[in-house]
Amino acid sequence: MKIDTKKSPLENLGTDALVVFVAQKSGRNSDRNPEAKNNPKAKEEKKDAKNGSSKAYVEGVSKALQAKIQSAIDDGSLSGAANETVLFRDAGLAGARHLLTVGLGDQKAFGHEKLRQAAASAVTALKGTKAKTVALALDSLPHNSIGADLTVQALTEGALLADYTFNEFKEGREAAKGIETFSIVSSQKTKAFDSGVEAGTILAECVNFARWLGDRPGNRMTPTILAEETIKAAKNTKLKVNVWDRSRIKQEKMGSFLSVSLGSSQEPKFIIMEYNGTSSSKRPLCLVGKGLTFDCGGISIKPSAGMEEMKYDMCGGSAVIAAMLAIARLKLKVNVIAYVPATENLAGPAANKPGDIVIARNGKSIEVNNTDAEGRLILADALVYACEQEPAMILDAATLTGAMVVALGNTHTGFFTRNDKLAAKIEEVAEASGEWVWRMPLTDYHVKDMKGTYADLSNISASKGAGSATAAGFLEQFVDKEIPWAHFDVAGTAWHVGDRLPYCPRKGASGVMVRTFVEMAKTFE
Ligand code: BES
Ligand code: ZN
Ligand code: ZN
Repeated sequence: MKIDTKKSPLENLGTDALVVFVAQKSGRNSDRNPEAKNNPKAKEEKKDAKNGSSKAYVEGVSKALQAKIQSAIDDGSLSGAANETVLFRDAGLAGARHLLTVGLGDQKAFGHEKLRQAAASAVTALKGTKAKTVALALDSLPHNSIGADLTVQALTEGALLADYTFNEFKEGREAAKGIETFSIVSSQKTKAFDSGVEAGTILAECVNFARWLGDRPGNRMTPTILAEETIKAAKNTKLKVNVWDRSRIKQEKMGSFLSVSLGSSQEPKFIIMEYNGTSSSKRPLCLVGKGLTFDCGGISIKPSAGMEEMKYDMCGGSAVIAAMLAIARLKLKVNVIAYVPATENLAGPAANKPGDIVIARNGKSIEVNNTDAEGRLILADALVYACEQEPAMILDAATLTGAMVVALGNTHTGFFTRNDKLAAKIEEVAEASGEWVWRMPLTDYHVKDMKGTYADLSNISASKGAGSATAAGFLEQFVDKEIPWAHFDVAGTAWHVGDRLPYCPRKGASGVMVRTFVEMAKTFE
Protein backbone atom coordinates (compact mmCIF):
# COMPACT_ATOMS: atom_id res chain seq x y z
CA MET A 1 0.00 0.00 0.00
CA LYS A 2 1.24 3.43 -0.91
CA ILE A 3 0.14 6.59 0.89
CA ASP A 4 -0.11 9.92 -0.92
CA THR A 5 -1.77 13.29 -0.48
CA LYS A 6 -4.03 15.03 -2.97
CA LYS A 7 -5.70 18.37 -3.33
CA SER A 8 -9.01 17.63 -4.99
CA PRO A 9 -12.77 18.00 -4.60
CA LEU A 10 -14.12 14.66 -3.35
CA GLU A 11 -16.49 14.47 -6.32
CA ASN A 12 -13.59 14.27 -8.78
CA LEU A 13 -11.70 11.40 -7.18
CA GLY A 14 -12.86 8.27 -8.96
CA THR A 15 -11.85 6.15 -5.98
CA ASP A 16 -13.06 2.69 -4.93
CA ALA A 17 -13.78 3.84 -1.39
CA LEU A 18 -14.12 7.19 0.33
CA VAL A 19 -13.45 7.41 4.07
CA VAL A 20 -15.16 10.14 6.10
CA PHE A 21 -14.65 10.91 9.78
CA VAL A 22 -17.57 11.12 12.19
CA ALA A 23 -16.95 12.65 15.61
CA GLN A 24 -19.11 13.09 18.68
CA LYS A 25 -20.10 16.27 20.47
CA SER A 26 -20.70 15.68 24.11
CA GLY A 27 -22.39 19.09 24.46
CA ARG A 28 -20.28 20.13 27.43
CA ASN A 29 -18.87 22.93 25.28
CA SER A 30 -22.10 24.85 25.67
CA ASP A 31 -21.48 25.36 29.40
CA ARG A 32 -18.55 27.55 28.59
CA ASN A 33 -20.19 29.30 25.68
CA PRO A 34 -22.07 32.46 26.77
CA GLU A 35 -24.12 32.41 23.57
CA ALA A 36 -25.36 28.96 24.34
CA LYS A 37 -28.12 30.14 26.65
CA ASN A 38 -30.24 31.41 23.79
CA ASN A 39 -29.11 28.87 21.27
CA PRO A 40 -31.60 26.04 20.85
CA LYS A 41 -29.03 23.76 19.21
CA ALA A 42 -26.65 24.12 22.14
CA LYS A 43 -29.55 23.48 24.54
CA GLU A 44 -30.31 20.30 22.70
CA GLU A 45 -26.66 19.24 22.99
CA LYS A 46 -26.72 19.96 26.70
CA LYS A 47 -29.72 17.72 27.07
CA ASP A 48 -27.90 14.96 25.21
CA ALA A 49 -24.90 15.33 27.52
CA LYS A 50 -27.16 15.08 30.58
CA ASN A 51 -28.75 11.96 29.19
CA GLY A 52 -25.27 10.56 28.79
CA SER A 53 -25.68 10.40 25.02
CA SER A 54 -23.21 11.89 22.58
CA LYS A 55 -24.20 13.34 19.29
CA ALA A 56 -22.48 12.19 16.16
CA TYR A 57 -21.79 14.77 13.50
CA VAL A 58 -19.97 15.09 10.25
CA GLU A 59 -18.48 18.20 8.66
CA GLY A 60 -16.31 19.33 5.78
CA VAL A 61 -18.14 17.30 3.12
CA SER A 62 -20.82 18.08 0.49
CA LYS A 63 -24.43 18.57 1.58
CA ALA A 64 -25.47 15.36 -0.18
CA LEU A 65 -22.82 13.31 1.60
CA GLN A 66 -23.61 14.94 4.90
CA ALA A 67 -27.31 14.11 4.48
CA LYS A 68 -26.52 10.48 3.72
CA ILE A 69 -24.43 10.12 6.87
CA GLN A 70 -26.89 12.12 8.95
CA SER A 71 -29.72 9.76 8.08
CA ALA A 72 -27.65 6.83 9.39
CA ILE A 73 -26.96 8.84 12.56
CA ASP A 74 -30.66 9.60 12.92
CA ASP A 75 -31.76 5.99 12.59
CA GLY A 76 -29.20 4.96 15.20
CA SER A 77 -26.98 2.86 12.95
CA LEU A 78 -24.03 5.21 13.28
CA SER A 79 -22.83 6.65 16.59
CA GLY A 80 -19.41 8.14 15.81
CA ALA A 81 -17.82 6.17 18.67
CA ALA A 82 -14.05 5.81 18.46
CA ASN A 83 -13.02 3.28 15.80
CA GLU A 84 -16.60 2.48 14.80
CA THR A 85 -16.76 1.79 11.07
CA VAL A 86 -19.90 1.78 8.95
CA LEU A 87 -19.68 0.70 5.33
CA PHE A 88 -22.13 2.02 2.74
CA ARG A 89 -21.57 -0.30 -0.22
CA ASP A 90 -22.20 1.14 -3.67
CA ALA A 91 -23.20 4.38 -2.02
CA GLY A 92 -24.14 6.16 -5.24
CA LEU A 93 -21.70 9.01 -4.68
CA ALA A 94 -20.01 11.07 -7.34
CA GLY A 95 -16.31 10.19 -7.32
CA ALA A 96 -16.41 7.09 -5.08
CA ARG A 97 -17.99 3.64 -5.21
CA HIS A 98 -18.19 2.78 -1.51
CA LEU A 99 -18.42 5.07 1.49
CA LEU A 100 -16.92 4.20 4.86
CA THR A 101 -17.38 6.27 7.98
CA VAL A 102 -14.91 5.96 10.80
CA GLY A 103 -15.73 7.17 14.29
CA LEU A 104 -13.46 9.44 16.31
CA GLY A 105 -15.42 9.55 19.56
CA ASP A 106 -15.41 12.71 21.65
CA GLN A 107 -14.14 15.61 19.56
CA LYS A 108 -12.41 17.11 22.59
CA ALA A 109 -10.41 14.04 23.58
CA PHE A 110 -8.24 14.39 20.53
CA GLY A 111 -4.69 13.18 20.10
CA HIS A 112 -2.46 11.74 17.41
CA GLU A 113 -3.07 8.23 18.76
CA LYS A 114 -6.76 8.60 17.96
CA LEU A 115 -5.91 9.41 14.35
CA ARG A 116 -3.52 6.46 14.11
CA GLN A 117 -6.26 4.16 15.36
CA ALA A 118 -8.97 5.68 13.14
CA ALA A 119 -6.90 5.25 9.96
CA ALA A 120 -6.09 1.69 11.03
CA SER A 121 -9.77 0.91 11.66
CA ALA A 122 -10.63 2.23 8.19
CA VAL A 123 -8.01 0.06 6.47
CA THR A 124 -9.09 -3.03 8.41
CA ALA A 125 -12.77 -2.41 7.61
CA LEU A 126 -12.00 -2.03 3.89
CA LYS A 127 -10.02 -5.24 3.67
CA GLY A 128 -13.12 -7.27 2.75
CA THR A 129 -14.32 -4.85 0.05
CA LYS A 130 -11.58 -5.51 -2.51
CA ALA A 131 -11.07 -1.74 -2.80
CA LYS A 132 -7.75 -0.98 -4.50
CA THR A 133 -7.91 2.79 -4.17
CA VAL A 134 -9.01 4.55 -1.02
CA ALA A 135 -9.39 8.26 -0.35
CA LEU A 136 -9.61 9.76 3.11
CA ALA A 137 -11.50 13.07 3.35
CA LEU A 138 -9.20 15.11 5.57
CA ASP A 139 -11.62 18.07 5.59
CA SER A 140 -14.02 15.93 7.61
CA LEU A 141 -11.53 15.86 10.49
CA PRO A 142 -12.78 18.19 13.25
CA HIS A 143 -10.57 21.11 14.07
CA ASN A 144 -7.83 20.10 16.51
CA SER A 145 -4.57 21.36 17.91
CA ILE A 146 -2.36 18.77 16.22
CA GLY A 147 -0.27 20.25 13.41
CA ALA A 148 -0.90 19.27 9.79
CA ASP A 149 2.35 17.28 9.53
CA LEU A 150 1.67 15.26 12.69
CA THR A 151 -1.93 14.67 11.65
CA VAL A 152 -0.89 13.29 8.29
CA GLN A 153 1.98 11.36 9.87
CA ALA A 154 -0.32 9.65 12.41
CA LEU A 155 -2.87 8.76 9.71
CA THR A 156 -0.10 7.35 7.52
CA GLU A 157 1.31 5.28 10.37
CA GLY A 158 -2.09 3.89 11.32
CA ALA A 159 -2.99 2.93 7.75
CA LEU A 160 0.34 1.22 7.02
CA LEU A 161 0.52 -0.55 10.37
CA ALA A 162 -2.99 -1.99 9.90
CA ASP A 163 -2.06 -3.15 6.41
CA TYR A 164 0.76 -5.42 7.66
CA THR A 165 0.22 -9.16 7.23
CA PHE A 166 2.50 -12.14 7.66
CA ASN A 167 1.51 -14.56 4.91
CA GLU A 168 4.80 -15.51 3.36
CA PHE A 169 4.42 -19.17 4.25
CA LYS A 170 0.78 -19.46 3.18
CA GLU A 171 -0.58 -20.65 -0.13
CA GLY A 172 -1.86 -17.93 -2.46
CA ARG A 173 0.32 -15.33 -0.77
CA GLU A 174 0.93 -13.45 -4.01
CA ALA A 175 -2.77 -13.07 -4.78
CA ALA A 176 -3.67 -11.61 -1.41
CA LYS A 177 -2.91 -7.99 -2.35
CA GLY A 178 -5.05 -5.41 -0.58
CA ILE A 179 -5.37 -1.65 -0.96
CA GLU A 180 -2.86 -0.26 -3.45
CA THR A 181 -3.14 3.47 -2.81
CA PHE A 182 -4.46 5.30 0.20
CA SER A 183 -4.82 9.00 -0.57
CA ILE A 184 -5.24 11.67 2.05
CA VAL A 185 -7.41 14.23 0.25
CA SER A 186 -8.11 17.81 1.21
CA SER A 187 -9.10 21.14 -0.28
CA GLN A 188 -5.87 22.73 0.92
CA LYS A 189 -2.62 20.90 0.67
CA THR A 190 0.61 22.17 2.19
CA LYS A 191 4.21 20.97 2.17
CA ALA A 192 3.65 19.69 5.71
CA PHE A 193 1.41 16.99 4.25
CA ASP A 194 4.22 15.46 2.25
CA SER A 195 6.68 15.55 5.13
CA GLY A 196 4.01 13.90 7.30
CA VAL A 197 3.53 11.12 4.77
CA GLU A 198 7.27 10.63 4.49
CA ALA A 199 7.94 10.45 8.23
CA GLY A 200 4.88 8.25 8.84
CA THR A 201 5.84 5.90 6.03
CA ILE A 202 9.40 5.49 7.33
CA LEU A 203 8.22 4.82 10.87
CA ALA A 204 5.50 2.38 9.88
CA GLU A 205 7.72 0.52 7.44
CA CYS A 206 10.36 0.13 10.15
CA VAL A 207 7.79 -1.04 12.72
CA ASN A 208 6.50 -3.51 10.13
CA PHE A 209 10.06 -4.67 9.51
CA ALA A 210 10.48 -5.29 13.27
CA ARG A 211 7.21 -7.24 13.18
CA TRP A 212 8.38 -9.34 10.25
CA LEU A 213 11.65 -10.19 12.01
CA GLY A 214 9.60 -11.25 15.04
CA ASP A 215 6.90 -13.15 13.17
CA ARG A 216 9.31 -15.35 11.27
CA PRO A 217 9.66 -18.71 13.01
CA GLY A 218 12.85 -19.73 14.79
CA ASN A 219 14.11 -21.87 11.93
CA ARG A 220 13.71 -18.95 9.51
CA MET A 221 15.10 -16.28 11.81
CA THR A 222 18.26 -17.70 13.31
CA PRO A 223 20.97 -15.37 14.67
CA THR A 224 22.72 -15.66 11.29
CA ILE A 225 19.57 -14.76 9.35
CA LEU A 226 18.83 -11.90 11.74
CA ALA A 227 22.31 -10.50 11.10
CA GLU A 228 21.99 -10.97 7.33
CA GLU A 229 18.59 -9.28 7.22
CA THR A 230 19.96 -6.39 9.26
CA ILE A 231 22.82 -5.92 6.81
CA LYS A 232 20.40 -6.13 3.87
CA ALA A 233 18.00 -3.58 5.38
CA ALA A 234 20.81 -1.16 6.17
CA LYS A 235 21.93 -0.97 2.51
CA ASN A 236 21.56 2.51 1.03
CA THR A 237 21.47 4.12 4.46
CA LYS A 238 24.26 5.73 6.47
CA LEU A 239 24.20 2.79 8.89
CA LYS A 240 27.35 0.77 9.43
CA VAL A 241 26.68 -2.81 10.44
CA ASN A 242 29.32 -5.08 11.92
CA VAL A 243 28.64 -8.65 13.02
CA TRP A 244 30.82 -10.65 15.41
CA ASP A 245 30.84 -14.43 15.19
CA ARG A 246 31.39 -16.99 17.96
CA SER A 247 35.17 -16.74 17.98
CA ARG A 248 35.11 -12.93 18.18
CA ILE A 249 32.52 -13.05 20.99
CA LYS A 250 34.82 -15.43 22.86
CA GLN A 251 37.87 -13.26 22.15
CA GLU A 252 35.95 -10.25 23.54
CA LYS A 253 35.48 -12.12 26.83
CA MET A 254 31.70 -12.16 26.62
CA GLY A 255 31.58 -15.40 28.60
CA SER A 256 28.05 -14.91 29.86
CA PHE A 257 26.57 -14.36 26.38
CA LEU A 258 28.69 -17.17 24.94
CA SER A 259 27.51 -19.65 27.57
CA VAL A 260 23.87 -19.29 26.47
CA SER A 261 24.76 -20.11 22.87
CA LEU A 262 26.50 -23.39 23.77
CA GLY A 263 23.29 -25.42 23.86
CA SER A 264 22.60 -24.69 20.20
CA SER A 265 24.26 -25.60 16.92
CA GLN A 266 23.40 -22.16 15.55
CA GLU A 267 26.26 -19.75 15.75
CA PRO A 268 25.62 -16.73 18.01
CA LYS A 269 26.01 -13.27 16.48
CA PHE A 270 26.73 -9.93 18.09
CA ILE A 271 25.13 -7.37 15.80
CA ILE A 272 26.57 -3.85 15.97
CA MET A 273 24.91 -0.93 14.19
CA GLU A 274 26.35 2.55 14.10
CA TYR A 275 24.79 5.75 12.86
CA ASN A 276 26.72 8.99 12.80
CA GLY A 277 24.32 11.81 12.04
CA THR A 278 26.24 14.57 13.76
CA SER A 279 29.71 15.58 14.94
CA SER A 280 31.76 12.70 16.36
CA SER A 281 32.38 14.80 19.49
CA LYS A 282 28.74 14.25 20.50
CA ARG A 283 28.30 11.25 22.77
CA PRO A 284 25.95 8.65 21.29
CA LEU A 285 22.64 7.28 22.41
CA CYS A 286 23.08 3.56 22.82
CA LEU A 287 20.35 0.96 22.22
CA VAL A 288 20.66 -2.66 23.33
CA GLY A 289 18.15 -5.40 22.46
CA LYS A 290 17.69 -9.04 23.48
CA GLY A 291 18.00 -11.15 20.34
CA LEU A 292 17.00 -14.63 21.53
CA THR A 293 15.81 -16.13 18.24
CA PHE A 294 14.32 -19.08 20.13
CA ASP A 295 14.15 -19.75 23.86
CA CYS A 296 13.19 -23.27 24.95
CA GLY A 297 14.54 -22.51 28.41
CA GLY A 298 17.65 -24.66 27.98
CA ILE A 299 18.14 -27.49 30.52
CA SER A 300 15.61 -25.71 32.80
CA ILE A 301 13.20 -26.42 29.96
CA LYS A 302 9.92 -24.57 29.52
CA PRO A 303 6.54 -26.34 29.44
CA SER A 304 5.63 -27.26 25.85
CA ALA A 305 2.26 -25.45 25.82
CA GLY A 306 2.86 -22.07 24.25
CA MET A 307 6.57 -22.66 23.76
CA GLU A 308 6.20 -21.75 20.08
CA GLU A 309 5.72 -18.15 21.21
CA MET A 310 9.36 -18.06 22.22
CA LYS A 311 10.25 -17.29 18.60
CA TYR A 312 9.31 -13.75 19.69
CA ASP A 313 12.12 -13.68 22.25
CA MET A 314 14.16 -11.53 19.88
CA CYS A 315 11.61 -8.72 19.75
CA GLY A 316 13.72 -6.41 21.92
CA GLY A 317 16.51 -6.91 19.39
CA SER A 318 14.24 -6.42 16.39
CA ALA A 319 12.87 -3.20 17.91
CA VAL A 320 16.41 -1.87 18.29
CA ILE A 321 17.38 -2.88 14.73
CA ALA A 322 14.24 -1.29 13.28
CA ALA A 323 14.62 1.88 15.37
CA MET A 324 18.17 2.26 13.97
CA LEU A 325 16.83 1.90 10.43
CA ALA A 326 14.18 4.53 11.10
CA ILE A 327 16.69 6.93 12.66
CA ALA A 328 18.97 6.56 9.63
CA ARG A 329 16.14 6.88 7.09
CA LEU A 330 14.79 9.95 8.90
CA LYS A 331 18.35 11.33 8.77
CA LEU A 332 18.21 12.48 12.40
CA LYS A 333 21.14 14.65 13.46
CA VAL A 334 22.27 12.34 16.23
CA ASN A 335 24.82 9.64 16.92
CA VAL A 336 23.35 6.28 17.87
CA ILE A 337 24.91 2.85 18.35
CA ALA A 338 23.02 -0.40 18.78
CA TYR A 339 24.03 -3.80 20.10
CA VAL A 340 21.99 -6.94 19.63
CA PRO A 341 23.37 -10.13 21.14
CA ALA A 342 21.64 -12.87 19.13
CA THR A 343 21.52 -16.56 19.99
CA GLU A 344 19.23 -19.51 20.56
CA ASN A 345 18.71 -20.93 24.05
CA LEU A 346 18.47 -24.69 23.57
CA ALA A 347 19.33 -27.77 25.60
CA GLY A 348 22.14 -29.33 23.52
CA PRO A 349 24.99 -31.35 25.09
CA ALA A 350 27.19 -28.31 25.73
CA ALA A 351 24.37 -26.19 27.19
CA ASN A 352 24.62 -24.33 30.48
CA LYS A 353 23.64 -26.57 33.40
CA PRO A 354 21.97 -25.28 36.55
CA GLY A 355 24.75 -24.28 38.93
CA ASP A 356 27.32 -23.57 36.19
CA ILE A 357 29.40 -20.47 36.80
CA VAL A 358 30.19 -18.12 33.92
CA ILE A 359 32.29 -14.94 33.81
CA ALA A 360 30.98 -11.78 32.14
CA ARG A 361 33.09 -9.22 30.26
CA ASN A 362 33.42 -7.01 33.35
CA GLY A 363 34.89 -9.93 35.34
CA LYS A 364 31.79 -10.58 37.44
CA SER A 365 31.02 -14.24 38.04
CA ILE A 366 27.45 -15.51 37.62
CA GLU A 367 25.84 -18.71 38.86
CA VAL A 368 23.40 -19.95 36.24
CA ASN A 369 20.83 -21.33 38.62
CA ASN A 370 18.10 -21.37 36.00
CA THR A 371 19.11 -21.68 32.37
CA ASP A 372 15.79 -20.12 31.34
CA ALA A 373 16.88 -16.76 32.81
CA GLU A 374 19.16 -16.40 29.78
CA GLY A 375 18.14 -12.96 28.53
CA ARG A 376 19.96 -11.23 31.36
CA LEU A 377 23.05 -13.37 30.66
CA ILE A 378 23.34 -12.16 27.07
CA LEU A 379 22.41 -8.56 27.92
CA ALA A 380 25.03 -8.41 30.69
CA ASP A 381 27.94 -8.57 28.22
CA ALA A 382 26.22 -6.29 25.73
CA LEU A 383 25.62 -3.65 28.43
CA VAL A 384 29.25 -3.81 29.61
CA TYR A 385 30.40 -3.31 26.03
CA ALA A 386 27.92 -0.46 25.54
CA CYS A 387 29.25 1.33 28.64
CA GLU A 388 32.78 1.15 27.26
CA GLN A 389 31.67 3.46 24.42
CA GLU A 390 30.86 6.15 27.03
CA PRO A 391 27.39 6.84 25.66
CA ALA A 392 25.15 9.71 26.78
CA MET A 393 22.37 7.22 27.56
CA ILE A 394 21.63 3.52 27.30
CA LEU A 395 18.17 2.10 26.63
CA ASP A 396 17.62 -1.62 26.43
CA ALA A 397 14.57 -3.61 25.34
CA ALA A 398 14.02 -7.25 26.17
CA THR A 399 11.28 -9.87 26.46
CA LEU A 400 12.90 -10.56 29.79
CA THR A 401 10.43 -11.95 32.30
CA GLY A 402 7.09 -13.72 32.47
CA ALA A 403 6.60 -11.73 35.69
CA MET A 404 6.28 -8.58 33.57
CA VAL A 405 3.19 -10.06 31.89
CA VAL A 406 1.73 -10.85 35.32
CA ALA A 407 2.37 -7.30 36.53
CA LEU A 408 1.19 -5.25 33.55
CA GLY A 409 -0.49 -7.63 31.11
CA ASN A 410 -0.41 -6.73 27.43
CA THR A 411 -1.08 -3.02 27.59
CA HIS A 412 1.98 -1.26 29.04
CA THR A 413 5.68 -1.84 28.64
CA GLY A 414 7.28 -1.72 32.08
CA PHE A 415 10.45 0.31 32.35
CA PHE A 416 13.07 0.47 35.07
CA THR A 417 15.49 3.25 35.87
CA ARG A 418 16.78 4.90 39.03
CA ASN A 419 17.16 8.17 37.17
CA ASP A 420 14.05 10.33 37.75
CA LYS A 421 14.96 12.79 35.03
CA LEU A 422 15.30 10.01 32.51
CA ALA A 423 12.02 8.48 33.71
CA ALA A 424 10.22 11.77 33.08
CA LYS A 425 11.80 12.03 29.64
CA ILE A 426 10.75 8.48 28.78
CA GLU A 427 7.17 9.23 29.76
CA GLU A 428 7.23 12.31 27.56
CA VAL A 429 8.64 10.59 24.47
CA ALA A 430 6.34 7.60 24.87
CA GLU A 431 3.40 9.97 25.00
CA ALA A 432 4.57 11.51 21.74
CA SER A 433 4.99 8.11 20.11
CA GLY A 434 1.62 6.77 21.25
CA GLU A 435 3.15 3.74 23.00
CA TRP A 436 2.16 2.97 26.59
CA VAL A 437 4.88 2.67 29.21
CA TRP A 438 4.74 2.35 32.99
CA ARG A 439 7.55 2.96 35.44
CA MET A 440 8.40 0.02 37.71
CA PRO A 441 10.49 0.04 40.91
CA LEU A 442 14.18 -0.74 41.02
CA THR A 443 15.84 -0.61 44.45
CA ASP A 444 18.78 -1.97 46.42
CA TYR A 445 16.46 -4.67 47.76
CA HIS A 446 15.98 -6.05 44.28
CA VAL A 447 19.73 -6.02 43.71
CA LYS A 448 20.41 -7.79 47.00
CA ASP A 449 18.17 -10.66 45.91
CA MET A 450 20.51 -11.37 43.01
CA LYS A 451 23.61 -12.16 45.09
CA GLY A 452 25.17 -15.54 44.30
CA THR A 453 26.08 -18.28 46.78
CA TYR A 454 29.27 -19.41 45.04
CA ALA A 455 29.68 -16.52 42.60
CA ASP A 456 29.22 -12.74 42.64
CA LEU A 457 25.72 -13.00 41.25
CA SER A 458 22.98 -15.54 40.69
CA ASN A 459 20.87 -15.26 37.56
CA ILE A 460 17.70 -15.86 39.59
CA SER A 461 16.37 -14.12 42.65
CA ALA A 462 16.80 -15.49 46.17
CA SER A 463 13.26 -14.48 47.06
CA LYS A 464 9.84 -14.86 45.49
CA GLY A 465 8.02 -12.10 43.63
CA ALA A 466 8.99 -8.94 41.75
CA GLY A 467 10.72 -11.07 39.14
CA SER A 468 10.92 -8.22 36.63
CA ALA A 469 12.50 -5.84 39.14
CA THR A 470 15.08 -8.37 40.33
CA ALA A 471 15.95 -9.03 36.68
CA ALA A 472 16.46 -5.29 36.24
CA GLY A 473 18.57 -5.28 39.41
CA PHE A 474 20.74 -7.97 37.85
CA LEU A 475 21.20 -5.98 34.63
CA GLU A 476 22.14 -2.91 36.65
CA GLN A 477 25.29 -4.73 37.81
CA PHE A 478 26.61 -4.39 34.27
CA VAL A 479 25.95 -0.68 33.75
CA ASP A 480 28.21 2.18 34.91
CA LYS A 481 26.44 4.24 37.56
CA GLU A 482 27.19 7.55 35.79
CA ILE A 483 25.44 6.58 32.56
CA PRO A 484 21.69 7.27 32.44
CA TRP A 485 20.16 3.86 31.74
CA ALA A 486 16.68 2.45 31.42
CA HIS A 487 15.54 -1.10 30.83
CA PHE A 488 12.25 -1.84 29.01
CA ASP A 489 10.71 -5.25 29.65
CA VAL A 490 8.52 -5.89 26.58
CA ALA A 491 7.52 -9.45 27.54
CA GLY A 492 3.83 -8.47 27.61
CA THR A 493 3.77 -6.06 24.68
CA ALA A 494 6.15 -7.47 22.04
CA TRP A 495 3.42 -9.53 20.44
CA HIS A 496 -0.34 -9.45 20.50
CA VAL A 497 -2.69 -12.31 20.94
CA GLY A 498 -5.89 -10.41 20.14
CA ASP A 499 -7.19 -7.23 18.58
CA ARG A 500 -6.61 -4.74 21.38
CA LEU A 501 -5.07 -2.16 19.08
CA PRO A 502 -6.71 -1.36 15.73
CA TYR A 503 -3.29 -1.13 14.12
CA CYS A 504 -2.22 -4.53 15.41
CA PRO A 505 -5.35 -6.48 14.57
CA ARG A 506 -3.93 -9.99 14.55
CA LYS A 507 -1.79 -12.38 16.49
CA GLY A 508 1.82 -11.47 15.89
CA ALA A 509 4.73 -9.24 16.71
CA SER A 510 3.74 -5.65 17.54
CA GLY A 511 7.01 -3.82 16.80
CA VAL A 512 6.65 -2.08 20.16
CA MET A 513 9.37 0.39 21.25
CA VAL A 514 10.51 1.28 17.72
CA ARG A 515 8.51 4.51 17.79
CA THR A 516 9.49 5.41 21.37
CA PHE A 517 13.19 4.81 20.71
CA VAL A 518 13.06 6.97 17.59
CA GLU A 519 11.27 9.67 19.55
CA MET A 520 13.99 9.50 22.21
CA ALA A 521 16.68 9.82 19.54
CA LYS A 522 14.97 13.03 18.34
CA THR A 523 15.58 14.59 21.77
CA PHE A 524 19.33 14.36 21.09
CA GLU A 525 19.06 16.57 17.98
N1 BES B 1 11.93 -15.14 27.41
C1 BES B 1 11.56 -15.44 28.74
C2 BES B 1 10.56 -14.44 29.32
C3 BES B 1 9.18 -14.42 28.74
C4 BES B 1 8.21 -15.27 29.22
C5 BES B 1 8.84 -13.49 27.80
C6 BES B 1 6.94 -15.21 28.72
C7 BES B 1 7.56 -13.41 27.31
C8 BES B 1 6.60 -14.27 27.77
C9 BES B 1 12.77 -15.43 29.65
O1 BES B 1 13.95 -15.84 29.08
C10 BES B 1 12.47 -16.33 30.81
O2 BES B 1 12.19 -17.46 30.58
N2 BES B 1 12.51 -15.80 32.01
C11 BES B 1 12.20 -16.56 33.18
C12 BES B 1 13.06 -16.06 34.30
C13 BES B 1 12.96 -16.89 35.55
C14 BES B 1 13.53 -18.26 35.32
C15 BES B 1 13.69 -16.19 36.65
C16 BES B 1 10.72 -16.37 33.52
O3 BES B 1 10.22 -15.26 33.40
O4 BES B 1 10.07 -17.35 33.86
ZN1 ZN C 1 14.24 -17.93 29.11
ZN1 ZN D 1 14.10 -15.54 26.99
